[in-house]
Parts: sequence; structure tokens; C-alpha cells
Amino acid sequence: MQFETILVRSQDPTALITLNRPEKLNAMSMVLKQELIRALQELDSDATTRVIVLTGAGEKAFTAGADIHEFQGRTPMDQWRMYEHGTLYDAVDKVSKPVVAMINGYCFGGGLELAMACDIRVASNRAVLGQTELNIGIIPGGGGSQRLPRLVGLGKAMKLTLTGDRIDADEAARIGLVDEVVPHARLQPRTFEIAEKIVAHSPLAVRLAKSAIRASARLPLDQGLRYEQSLFALAMASADKEEGVRAFLEKREAKWTGQ
Ligand code: COA
Repeated sequence: MQFETILVRSQDPTALITLNRPEKLNAMSMVLKQELIRALQELDSDATTRVIVLTGAGEKAFTAGADIHEFQGRTPMDQWRMYEHGTLYDAVDKVSKPVVAMINGYCFGGGLELAMACDIRVASNRAVLGQTELNIGIIPGGGGSQRLPRLVGLGKAMKLTLTGDRIDADEAARIGLVDEVVPHARLQPRTFEIAEKIVAHSPLAVRLAKSAIRASARLPLDQGLRYEQSLFALAMASADKEEGVRAFLEKREAKWTGQ
């Protein structure tokens, strides 16, 4: 896969996408967003890839958000057309495999929205996070007003968004915005360790579990429970269920086929 603004490493089950504009703190230009959408789609249909990790190049930033230069002169119709074609955040949402945000530094605005669209967030102790759009006279437009309250609750989402405050990684973990904070040097090893644990499971079961958990964000409880039951019933029909149960009873490691 050839790209201008991102790097993709995809030879292992854990694929790594690196936003690669370090001199601009990995600000997400339209080109970068389009390339990221394409990479996510390609990795989702690539048989080798089982987990996708997103991070930023350089020592300072995951991403400092949307490229603010591109807001100059943008009309409402330009913005509408971008939404019509589907956003980066929609693309992350549609990936069937787990997507992990490896937050190595600044994570602001659209960058935080990108991280929140992912399934798991692991942060360096150097990371600084913020829903900072109001600082430049706009509002979150990549899902921040909806995903942030779901993660941290209404009051904390209001406080973060309306103040435009930046918080450190420990505070982000305390309010549930990130799932784990690790010393900077441990960020990649620890993120890949988590990915490898996921990869060790049945790919089919991982996919079904992800789908069921993500449904909890959009379905009322009764419908979510029905959806979970449907996927649970589907899992009963899988070869991996037969193998997993047999391996447990025979006290050996299971060999998954993803069928
Ligand atoms: N869009 C476009 N360019 C950005 C950017 C963004 N979101 N964030 C940083 N950059 C660029 C800067 O313009 C600068 O480029 P230059 O060297 O050509 O002038 C470069 O990245 C380095 O940024 P700089 O501000 O010099 O670094 P810093 O360490 O002093 O400050 C931040 C870092 C992240 C605090 C600051 O850049 C910032 O506030 N960025 C905007 C964050 C934001 O509000 N994002 C949400 C957008 S909706």
C-alpha cells in the first residue's frame, strides 16, 4: 500500500498505521483522512490482519486534530459534501476488526474523535488530550458530541468541550477517556501485547464480540440484548466453538480456523 501521509505496516496479524506528518503534529489534512479511510478498508479485508493499531509519527503527537489551514474558505456545502461521502470516523466505525488507538502525544479535536471512534485507547504518560474545537470557534464535527458523553458521561463531556481544556493521560484514564496509561517507552510493547492477546482468540468470536459491544452504543437495552443473543446463537454454529469446547475438555490449546 503506497501513501503520502500515512505509513502502513501490514505483514503481521497486528497491522500498524502511523499518521505521518510529524512536522505538522500529524494534523489530519483531507488527503490524510482519505488515505486513512483507504488503509482501514484494505486492512479490514486483508486476511493476515487481525487487529489494527493507529498511532502518530514523531515524539510529540498522536494527532493535533483536523488540519486547521483547510478550514479557511470552507463553505457549508463543501462540508456537507464531505459528510455525504462518509467520514473517517464512519470508516473507523465500520471496521469489523478491533482498532486500537496508541496515543503517543497530543490528541486534540478531531484527533480525540478519531481515538474515540477506535475500540480501545492506550495512552503514553506523555499524552495530552482535549476536545478543543471551541478554542477556534467551531464545535466537534467528527462524533465528539456523541462519543465523548458515552465514554465519560454528560457533565464531564460538557466540561471538556465547553472549556476546551487539555488534560493529561492520568486524568483521561480517571474519567474513562482512555483505557490504560503506560510509561512512554512501554507504549508500543504494551499496545502490541494487548493486540496479541486479541489475536490469540478465535477471529470469528472476536468479530462477533466487537459487533455486540459496539451495538450497545446505538441500541436500547432490550434490542441490544436480543442482538447479543442472535450473535451468541450464531457462535454456537461455528467450527471455532466446537474446537474451543473440545480443546478445553481435552486440556489442550485450541486451533482456531475462524469458521
Ligand atoms: N492543523 C494544522 N496545523 C497544525 C495543527 C492543526 N490542527 N496543529 C499544529 N499544527 C502545526 C502548526 O501550525 C505548526 O506548523 P508550522 O511550524 O508550519 O507553523 C506545527 O504544527 C507545530 O505546531 P506548534 O503550534 O508550533 O507546536 P507547539 O508544540 O507549540 O503547540 C499544540 C502544539 C498542539 C498545542 C498547538 O499546535 C495547537 O494548539 N494546535 C491546534 C490543536 C487543536 O485545536 N486542534 C483541533 C482542531 S479542530
